[in-house]
Amino acid sequence: MRTITSIVCLALIASLFSGVTLARDRAGTIERGKTSYLIFCSNCHGQDATGNGPVAQLLTIPSTDLTLLKRKGEEFPYNEVSSAIDGRKDVKAHGYKQMPIWGVAFGRKRAPIINEIILYLETLQKNP
Ligand code: HEC
Repeated sequence: MRTITSIVCLALIASLFSGVTLARDRAGTIERGKTSYLIFCSNCHGQDATGNGPVAQLLTIPSTDLTLLKRKGEEFPYNEVSSAIDGRKDVKAHGYKQMPIWGVAFGRKRAPIINEIILYLETLQKNP
């Protein structure tokens, strides 16, 4: 009986630690997403992601406010955002050639980089 209790305790402690590690991983992921965002996106979408970057003024189409991607009461549209970034989405629908095809630009590391940027953007959403 004591052995079983010990095993259960150990399992509980182990799962607690993995939870802590996961939380730390997530924080690191979001931090890396922020760095990539500031390098690759903020010139148009702005440092605060509301669409007011310095290059935005030179474009004929407004740079989308990325803090409003999530609509009230709906899930964060992860796949939509992902395809807008990697270029899978119809080019005309997201700004012709003004929105570079990041899927190509990020090369082999595109999946993790795009995932990090999206998770960072998710933290900026204003709608509950
Ligand atoms: C050269 C300027 C520019 C850069 C750099 C840029 N964008 Fe955009 N982006 C735009 C413009 C302009 C639009 C609006 C297109 C439209 O309304 O058709 C847009 C639209 C979007 C949209 C919404 C697409 C949709 O479905 O309507 C997302 C999401 C987005 N950008 C994310 C990003 C991310 C993430 C980055 C960095 C990896 C980035 N953008 C870099 C100019 C830019």
